[in-house]
Amino acid sequence: MNTPYSTDGHYIHPSILDADFMSIGTELDRISTADSVHVDVMDNHFVPNLTFGPSMVEQIVERSPIPVDAHLMIDEADTRAPAFAEAGASSVTFHLEAARAPVKLARDLRRKNTQVGVALRPATAVEPILDIIGEFDMLLIMTVEPGFGGQSFLETMLPKIRRARAAIGEANLEVSIQVDGGVSRETIERCAEAGANIFVAGSAIYRAQDAAEEISALRALAQEHAPH
Ligand code: DX5
Ligand code: ZN
Repeated sequence: MNTPYSTDGHYIHPSILDADFMSIGTELDRISTADSVHVDVMDNHFVPNLTFGPSMVEQIVERSPIPVDAHLMIDEADTRAPAFAEAGASSVTFHLEAARAPVKLARDLRRKNTQVGVALRPATAVEPILDIIGEFDMLLIMTVEPGFGGQSFLETMLPKIRRARAAIGEANLEVSIQVDGGVSRETIERCAEAGANIFVAGSAIYRAQDAAEEISALRALAQEHAPH
């Protein structure tokens, strides 16, 4: 099994939401030096936007030179998330707000040989999930309202990242923290300092002239600003 992340590294996951979908193959090749490709799955209910279903994710998995990190912004995650693990995603992240039984779902997904993440909208507090965070490989703290690329980073999420990192450290758990939304050369340092170790960047990478150079610049900034 591919393991797209572990807690002792810093990882860059470009989001293909900002890619040119007419040329998806070459758009995947542009980011082959990244750690995983972040695929934003939207159902037009959980968020007001519509993107990929499981069969498209399966094709992306087959074509992508790097692992697929699926971020599900869909309702009824309990019944709909497993299809994305079956499609071959190396990690599947569902939203806490869309799951009735998140522990059961996390266990179901792990049995399908995928890493599992849980995502929080900006207005969802992190504290209620800390007691069950050991069920997950990754906590995704949204730094914009989910739904669209190119939005401004929400600075107010930094204390939430810090509190989550502290609690995970105190509990001696191996859980990565991913940030998603408005991550760029201007904001990545603060995310890393706060304790994030997986960084999703859509517009910052896909709108750059040289995507590989942007990926390495972001990775270097994150590594330099890791907390000690
Ligand atoms: C937003 C998505 C993000 C988005 C990030 O709902 O979850 O992954 O593509 O795009 P940027 O980096 O442009 O904010
Ligand atoms: Zn995302």
